[in-house]
Amino acid sequence: MSFETVIVERQAAVGIIRLNRPKALNALSLQLVAELNQALDAFETDPEIGAVVLTGSDKAFAAGADIREMQPLSYVDLLADDFVAAWERLARMTKPVVAAVAGFALGGGCELALMCDIVIAADTAKFGQPEITLGLMPGAGGTQRLARAVGKAKTMDMVLTGRMIDAAEAERIGIVSRVVPSAELMETALAVATRIAALSQPSVRLAKEAVNRAFEGGLADGIRTERRLFQSLFATEDAREGMAAFTEKRVPHFRNR
Ligand code: HXC
Repeated sequence: MSFETVIVERQAAVGIIRLNRPKALNALSLQLVAELNQALDAFETDPEIGAVVLTGSDKAFAAGADIREMQPLSYVDLLADDFVAAWERLARMTKPVVAAVAGFALGGGCELALMCDIVIAADTAKFGQPEITLGLMPGAGGTQRLARAVGKAKTMDMVLTGRMIDAAEAERIGIVSRVVPSAELMETALAVATRIAALSQPSVRLAKEAVNRAFEGGLADGIRTERRLFQSLFATEDAREGMAAFTEKRVPHFRNR
């Protein structure tokens, strides 16, 4: 696959998508989001791929929606052509997505990171929702996902002031899973994705769905869904194999069945 604004690669069972608009700090133009979605579609349907790593450059994961493209749009334009809807493709991935974030993850860039399942940050990473400084507000799930990830106090601070937080604070409050030195970012993200891709894919898929459910509805609904998904895994051969391997003190051989 060849695109202008994203670079797509694969390493064994891991798909890698690199946002690539260096002159605009990976600002998320319509073209970039469309190409990102095509790359996600391709990995989602590729049976050889078990997990995806989404990354940017050393300087920027993504500095937000492309402000130059948004500037001429009116309210009625946005109603007529809901360009934000296209951004949700990432959140609908059933395969796990690991974000490898270095540099700026701002506005829509921070929102993309929040849609990923695991966020690994370089110590250079900076997260923020600066839309308020443009007279806007987050529009790709930021108010909702950030609030659920870090609670009201930090969300209001970030969304209402637009201030950036560094990687250490992002880890402390729960946006980021791990912080690593910049030079180790891709290696760590690929190791995490490779590990997940080697596990039983039905269990990974349903576990992801169950965790996401915790952020989508109320608690009772989430617990009911979790129970149903947990029970359904007992219909897989991999669960039998995994539990047998444990009791027999050996490594499991998963066959995605
Ligand atoms: C378009 C952008 C951009 C953006 C940076 N650039 N961010 N272009 N949209 N979001 C461009 C700059 O115009 C500049 O182009 C080049 O990238 C380098 O940026 P500089 O500002 O010169 O770099 P620096 O001084 O290092 O500052 C980095 C920065 C700053 C702090 C990240 O660029 C910045 O504040 N960017 C905007 C961040 C932001 O407000 N994001 C939220 C967008 S709204 P030229 O041609 O001048 O060299 C949003 C809403 C999402 O995301 C809602 C869902 C759809």
